[in-house]
Amino acid sequence: MAQSVFTIFGGTGDLTFRKLLPAFYNMCIANDPQFKCQLIIIGRRSYSNEQYCAIAKNWVKKFARLPYTEENFTKFTQKISYYQMDFTDLNAYTALNDYYSTNNLAEHIFYFAVAPRFFNIIAEGLTKVCLACKGKVILEKPFGENLDSAKLLNKNLEKFFSPENIFRIDHYLGKEMVRNIQTLRFSNPIFSNLWNSRYIESVQISAPEDMGIESRGGYYDASGALRDMVQNHLFQILSIVAMEWPEQFSSTAMHDAQIRILRAMRPVKNIREALVLGQYKGYHQENLVKPNSTTETYAALRVFIDNERWWGTPFYIRTGKKLNRREIKIAIVFRPSFLEKAPQNILIIKVQPSEGVYLQFNMKKPGDTEEITQAKMDFCQTSYVNRLNTPEAYERLIKACIDDNKSWFSQWDQIELSWNFIDKLHELYKWENLPVFKYDANSTGPEQADELLQQSGHNWID
Ligand code: BG6
Repeated sequence: MAQSVFTIFGGTGDLTFRKLLPAFYNMCIANDPQFKCQLIIIGRRSYSNEQYCAIAKNWVKKFARLPYTEENFTKFTQKISYYQMDFTDLNAYTALNDYYSTNNLAEHIFYFAVAPRFFNIIAEGLTKVCLACKGKVILEKPFGENLDSAKLLNKNLEKFFSPENIFRIDHYLGKEMVRNIQTLRFSNPIFSNLWNSRYIESVQISAPEDMGIESRGGYYDASGALRDMVQNHLFQILSIVAMEWPEQFSSTAMHDAQIRILRAMRPVKNIREALVLGQYKGYHQENLVKPNSTTETYAALRVFIDNERWWGTPFYIRTGKKLNRREIKIAIVFRPSFLEKAPQNILIIKVQPSEGVYLQFNMKKPGDTEEITQAKMDFCQTSYVNRLNTPEAYERLIKACIDDNKSWFSQWDQIELSWNFIDKLHELYKWENLPVFKYDANSTGPEQADELLQQSGHNWID
């Protein structure tokens, strides 16, 4: 019987080592019934299977959720075949097809873990030997480099793959606490009744990273923080935090609710009040970065959503590399009480590294006093559940693709609207000739990002 096969283009890249192989290892070790397939790893370099697995081993050790053992890893390597190929050479696809036939491999899922400029050539190569029409394809973000390239890419891909077989991955949609936002919001009247601009002063989505750009200078320098993180991951989070009740948790209802938010994002007129870009000191010394590059490694922005629910409530977003911590959190800052000295209530959804929900409210200080003190309720999901049993984002999404479940994949119209917004931000920033502010590594980013909030009397919640 033919075996199904999962082919990864870009098999020696950072994404494959850091995210995909650990995810497949977890699925293999957990005996996941959906993981019945062979993994074909495509790379240009000449490795034997053993050599490739020896490299993969260290990454799996470091990044897999499930414990590493030699025995488990050996079991996993039985699923892996390294296949050397220059995927930009259209003639090489005939041999790839022969390889599949000889090994009786069918039912294809192709994973394009490569820069978007290669999507088209790979799709063409697969079409040439009639493989594209038989399989599904998973594409990594960023989907394009701007709106025009994304449109072109989409048009071309749809020539090769049928739209229902295209899965555009945004791994933030697979994160446990991102998937929890809907439940937290809609199943708790104490939150759902207050989830609007009448009660919420601001929403803050923060995703600082302590890592730099590592070995990804070539990609990152052409991209930057807005394209790398905001256009996709952070706008997805924003639209889930802000959307209306999707009526049912179906992929179409959810997608429609998110799209309405992206459409309602107010176009930025005064860029000085909306965006701060930064670059860490020492960025120019990174490998493959242009000597005078002005690519931003930090972005902080303020967005308004022009609908009845959110009229007048700013959504602040910030992300950056080489900062003093790695975390993702969403802070909901409630409007102040009429009692002047009472600190504001704050709800924080902690996405990573620890997962949970934190609520800050006011109490009377114990004793013979009327003074107010802050009480903190901190639900730590990470210690409550067995983390080993909770699949990582990539595991979830790979399984969802195998199951044909599109709920947690990006849809083309979301991508289009987000690019449109991000392109305009870039244009305006450039047009106004605004600086990309330098910041120290291991800091909280440029201080101008604080001023972005202070103009409205707000502060980042740290
Ligand atoms: C990727 C970005 O999509 O997400 C990287 O390209 C970033 O630059 C990464 O580091 C962050 O993912 P996570 O899951 O570690 O928050």
